[in-house]
Order: sequence, then structure tokens, then C-alpha cells
Amino acid sequence: MHDAHALEFTGAPKSRGNLSRIFVPEPSIIGTSVPRKEGREKVTGRTRYVDDLSFPDMLYGTTVRSANPRGRIRAIHFDPAIPWNEFTVVSAKDIPGKNCIALLIEDQPCLADEFVNHPEEAVVLLAHPDKYLLEEARRAVQIEIEPYPAIFTIEDSLARKQLIWGEDNIFKSFRVEKGDVGAAWGAADFIVEGDYETGAQEQLYIEPQGMIAQANPTDGVTVWGSLQCPYYVHKALVRLFGLPKDHVRVVQTETGGGFGGKEEYPSMIAGHAALLAWKSSKPVKIIYDRAEDMVATTKRHPSRTHHKTALTRDGKLLAIEIDFTIDGGAYETLSPVVLSRGTIHAAGPYNCPNVRVRSRAVATNMPPHGAFRGFGAPQSVFALERHLDRIAEIVGLTPDELRRRNFIHEGQTLAVGQVIRETVKMDRLMDRALELSSYHAKRQRFQQENPRSTIKRGIGFAAFLHGAGFTGSGEEYLASEAALDVTPDGRVRVFAGSTEMGQGTNTVFAQIAAETLGIGIDRIEIMQPDTAMVPNSGPTVASRTTMIVGKLVESAARAVQKSLFDGGFLQTGYDADDFASACGDYIARFGPLQSLIKYEHPTDLHWDDATYTGDAYGAYAWAVYVAEVSVDTRTAEVRVEDFVAVQEVGKVINPVLAAGQIEGGVAQGIGYALYENVVWQEGRMSNGQMTNYIMPTSMDVPPIRVFFEEIPYARGPGGAKGIGELPLDGTAPAIANAIANATGADITRIPVTPEVLLEMLESVHA
Ligand code: MTE
Ligand code: MOS
Repeated sequence: MHDAHALEFTGAPKSRGNLSRIFVPEPSIIGTSVPRKEGREKVTGRTRYVDDLSFPDMLYGTTVRSANPRGRIRAIHFDPAIPWNEFTVVSAKDIPGKNCIALLIEDQPCLADEFVNHPEEAVVLLAHPDKYLLEEARRAVQIEIEPYPAIFTIEDSLARKQLIWGEDNIFKSFRVEKGDVGAAWGAADFIVEGDYETGAQEQLYIEPQGMIAQANPTDGVTVWGSLQCPYYVHKALVRLFGLPKDHVRVVQTETGGGFGGKEEYPSMIAGHAALLAWKSSKPVKIIYDRAEDMVATTKRHPSRTHHKTALTRDGKLLAIEIDFTIDGGAYETLSPVVLSRGTIHAAGPYNCPNVRVRSRAVATNMPPHGAFRGFGAPQSVFALERHLDRIAEIVGLTPDELRRRNFIHEGQTLAVGQVIRETVKMDRLMDRALELSSYHAKRQRFQQENPRSTIKRGIGFAAFLHGAGFTGSGEEYLASEAALDVTPDGRVRVFAGSTEMGQGTNTVFAQIAAETLGIGIDRIEIMQPDTAMVPNSGPTVASRTTMIVGKLVESAARAVQKSLFDGGFLQTGYDADDFASACGDYIARFGPLQSLIKYEHPTDLHWDDATYTGDAYGAYAWAVYVAEVSVDTRTAEVRVEDFVAVQEVGKVINPVLAAGQIEGGVAQGIGYALYENVVWQEGRMSNGQMTNYIMPTSMDVPPIRVFFEEIPYARGPGGAKGIGELPLDGTAPAIANAIANATGADITRIPVTPEVLLEMLESVHA
């Protein structure tokens, strides 16, 4: 990694007095796979997750939920066999502030009061020192509900079979217009239509959700828990308790994965634990077991997409019309923003003069769907990339030739009218991916061999992009802050609300600060996200942490370094010891040395919410993924045999962690494509166990071959862009295209379980 580049590197500190080091330049820390900061603690079992924490006198809390999808609460019955006087019992009337989970809007109650709108909606909370008695008590509460008719599908919601939300069951809709789609149909040589569907998907972080709360009217509310966004939880608690901001404190405990699933739901559990703590005056711990976590918390939005595409004879895109709908469940939660990202990514990395995307998020009586890695893009990208393979067949081009004729280049515009100003080389990424996977040779070979075999092989790919950071003006509104200070002995502390959840925040921030300051990574300490201690650097979502918050860390480090230079405490050519004494000298003379940096939106990025046009994202990662599959036609089982992931992500800060992000995302994408099937019964997940909700194991994941192209992004820290969600977008369509290539089946929905594939194979033979 650090070859010629590192030798030429001039910014690294030069050593004084140590001869052996004069001839070996300090390698750049950015671009080096330094070990994960918290890795040793994690693998040796020393890390303390929320369930490892205990407070004196602590109670356990649990949630009594609605069994019905929709209805009016008539009565709540408490079985007299339980000694209820020993329990703390909380219902909606105990809420001191507003009964809501404040997010974009405040439609979702923290506890259902008069009505329930989805199965597993929380109605009553119980706390007791004995977990086992608590579970008995939970079963002894009966919520009597007068059932109302409910709706469970996008179709029924759109048809307004029941009006369950607002005036039209629609949380949000968008319309993207570029050129004149209506005028294009007449000029087309080909018009191709298609319908695509994707299912729900459970995040399946290793550590289920959990929270501990301490709360009383004098001290306010403090919660510790597994979460991605401390300031989201903070906002929700302030509203729920009607407290001033400084009376609410949220501390993130080590988080065993989030994947979007700990973006909005932790506000709910924090609210529940805090309400029990408030009423009992004791600390209360709520930890979900896997079954509760699976049935009650958010999942990826199911989607339906209709494509209509006009092309010229030689396969040039003339017009793309997309109709995209996602199922938001019973409350709005984050559906508008998931929809927004799905909408903007729906037309992919292609240059097309006329594009129309219409989209909407609708209400059903299911538990709210929520953030999951990719945030709407995996849904719309699946539809597009599957559709393009079908088009290629109709137009008579290879899938790669069709893409090549339409890839976007510098100076051209995306569907939302964003002019691509960065260098983009989709052709190069595709060439490299196809070559590394022997795509053409294998396509040919499989075509010859398949007719003689019951095991059919196939190879397919997907080309895609993923924008990093909040959409449009989002980062401007967020106005994130991060800070850095130094101790008298020269340790550097980074303060941000951004959380580590396995994706590498701690290590990446440390690398950025160490590189900027020219000191060792061991001198950098990343402070625990705690709203009483750290500024609001925004939520840990949208693949924004490295690129947006990392940049703030870099600027803060630079500002501290400048203070040391300007004060004459430090001279160029310093080493880590010089840095340490400079910090000590500075602090002795002037007091604390710290720097707080606020995000400034680049003035040349413009976004218009009214027309939904402009610079949707500051930067995109670009990628081409190739999947090879085998399909056993007797059992309709699909195996992914090989996987090549080529992406351009700006400068790679930590190659091992970055490759880990891609590998993990591809594994989740394999689950999304083939195995992870949520079985719904009256709006309730009926396979909420890991024995019947099938996810890929190591046996089902092939070696994933990850390749990075690096074109440093001028505005990213050290040139980096965001990559966290990217791998989810392209994996499922690459696999679906490979299955279609292997079998001739027209794959239009995922997951492609054996049952689904059998059905599709029958239509091939019919
Ligand atoms: N990787 C791990 N190991 N664990 C996670 O929870 N979350 C994903 C992705 N990669 C996640 C992960 C999601 S949904 C997002 S938005 C990004 O990481 C967030 O982190 P980033 O901003 O540092 O990319
Ligand atoms: Mo990620 S879905 O933005 O937490």
C-alpha cells in the first residue's frame, strides 16, 4: 500500500537524533491498515456492552405489546395471580411530556393510548427486580382490543382500502423531472417495461437493542445504550419528558452493530426505560431478546418499482420513467428520507436526457420500516440493474455493452440534474470487474455447459453509485460540530457524537488526527459519545462519518497544530516528543488548547427541495460488482460461487477496515438476494427466530474479492469518500442477473428463495 507514494511523502514528521529512522521515512498513517482501536478489547471479551452494565438497585423492564394490527384499546386486564404491588407499571397517562417519538414529525406514540396501529405496538411497560417474574407478569397482562380493519400491502394502501394515515395513506411523495419524458416515447426504437419487488430485511446486528435509564424530576433523564445517533435519542427524550435540553443525557455504550436498525428505534427503548425509571425512581434496564428485536423493531422497507424505458436502436437511453413505492408501516419514522435516497439513486450512474421518477412512501398496519444500510437505494438499484439486463437482451446487446453506451461521464448530469464535476470512470471500473471475474469467458463457457447439466451456472453484474452524507441541504441544516483538545502530556482527544458500531469510526478518526498532527496513532483518544461531553456531529448514518465528520476532525487537528506553530511552541520537522512538550508548554502558558469546528457547506453545492434538483450529494462512490452463481435445478437452490467488488471510493484510509466494510455489505446483500424472507401474518413477522429467518452463514458466502480504485476526493479528509452503505446496493441485482443468466428465468423479485425460483423456472419451461 505504502510504496512509492509513501517514499515521496513529505508531510511526515522527520525524526531527530535517531539515525536509523532518517533513512526510513515515516509511513503515512492514512492508507495503512492500523489495527482497529477497540479490537483487542472486543476479541478478548473485555468490552462492556449495555447488558454487561449494572447499577445498584436496578430493575428490569419489559414491554407489553399489541397482538392486533389495528383497533381501539377497550381495557387492560391484570391477572390477579401476579403480585402487582411489587411492580412498576407504566402506561401512556404516565408520560410527563408529549406522548411521541419525536423524529421528523411526531405521529408515533411512545405508548399506544387509545388506538393501536400495528402488531407489537407498545402499550404497557412493567419493571421488577426479578427478570423471570417479570416475564410471567408480561404474559399476565391482557390488552383487550376492539379490532378495526387493517391493511398490509402497498396495493391496498394505495387503493385506500382503509384510510389509516393522514388523508391519503401517503407519508411522502417525490417527483424528479429531467428533460421531456413524454416527448421521448415517439422517437424510441424500443420501449421496455418491467415490474420489480423487494422484500423486508432484518438488520440482524449481533447485539440486540438495549438501554439502561436513570430518571427523576431533580436530575432529569440519563440513558446508556446501544445506538447510532445519541442526539436523536436526546431530542426524543427532551420531548417525551418535557425537560430542558441540559436535563437529558444520552451515552452510547459499545454497540455491536447497527446497520441502520439502531438509527430511530433506540429512541423508543430509551423512552420506555426512562419512563419506568422515572416512575420507580430506580435505574431500569431493558434488553430485547432476539425474538422481540426481530418482531418489534424496524426492517428494510419492502418496495415495488415499475420501469418504462425508451431506447434507440443502438441501445442509447432516450427516456427513463420510474414509479417507486415503499411500504413505510404504521408511522412515518424515517420513511420520507429513505424514500428520498431511493428516488435519487433510482436512475443509477447513467446519462439519460429524459428522466421522470415518481415515488411515494405509504402507510400499512405493519411495524414501521426503517433505516437499513443503503437506505432505499438497494431497493431502487435492484429494479434498475435487473431491468437493464432485460433491456440488453431485448435490444440485442451484451449487458456490459448496454451499460457502456450509457454510463455517465464528467460534465453530464444525473437524474436530479447534478452535474458530475469529479472524475468518474465507470467504464474502467466495469472493465476491471469483468476482467477480474473472467466475465466474458465464463458467460461463454456456461452457455455451452449448462444445457448438459442439472447444475446451471451463471454470471451477472450491477453498476451503481452511492452518495455519501445527508441528501441535498441536509448537511447544511445539520451543521455538525466536532472538537479536539490536547492534554499537557500531548495526548489528543477527539470529541464527536459519531458512534463506533463496527464500521471503524474510532480507528478512522484516530488515523485522520494522527496523520494531520504528525504523531502516532496511540496518542489519539476517541471520547465516548455522551451528549454531556461531546458536540453534536450529527447521526452516524448515511455513510457520512468518515467523509463529513472525519473532515471536521482533520480541520480541528489542523487548527490545534496551527496554534502550536503560531505560539512558537512547535517548529516544522517536529516529532511526537516535541509535540508532547509543545502541548505542555502551551497549556502552562495559555490554559486549555482545544478546537471546535463546525461544518461549512461548500458554496458551489446547491440543492432545491421544491424542484428536487441540484447537487444531491457532495460526492459519490462508484462501483461494479460481479456475482457468479450455480443453481441446482432439482432443488432450485442458488449458491454464490464467486464475487468481485470493484469500487472507487476516494482515498482508502484503512484498507483492511474498508475491505471489511465491503465484505460485510456483500454478505448482507447475499442474504437480501437469496435467503432473508420475512413471513408476514396479519402484519406480524411470523418467523422472528434465527432458526426460520434464514441468513447467510460463512458456508453461504464465497470469497469476496475486493478492489479499490482511488481517486482522492478534494473535500474528503485525506481524500476519502463514504463507503459504508455502498456494498448493499449492487450485490442483490448482480446475483439476480447471474441467476437469470444461469437459468433464463426472469428474476423480478427478491429474495430468490427456492420456492420463488421454482415458480420462475416453471414459467421458463412453459
Ligand atoms: N459496518 C458495521 N460493521 N456495523 C454497522 O452497524 N452500519 C452501516 C455501515 N457499515 C454498519 C457498518 C451503515 S447503515 C452505515 S450508514 C454506515 O456504516 C455508517 O457508518 P459510516 O458513516 O462510518 O460509514
Ligand atoms: Mo445507515 S442505514 O444510514 O444507518
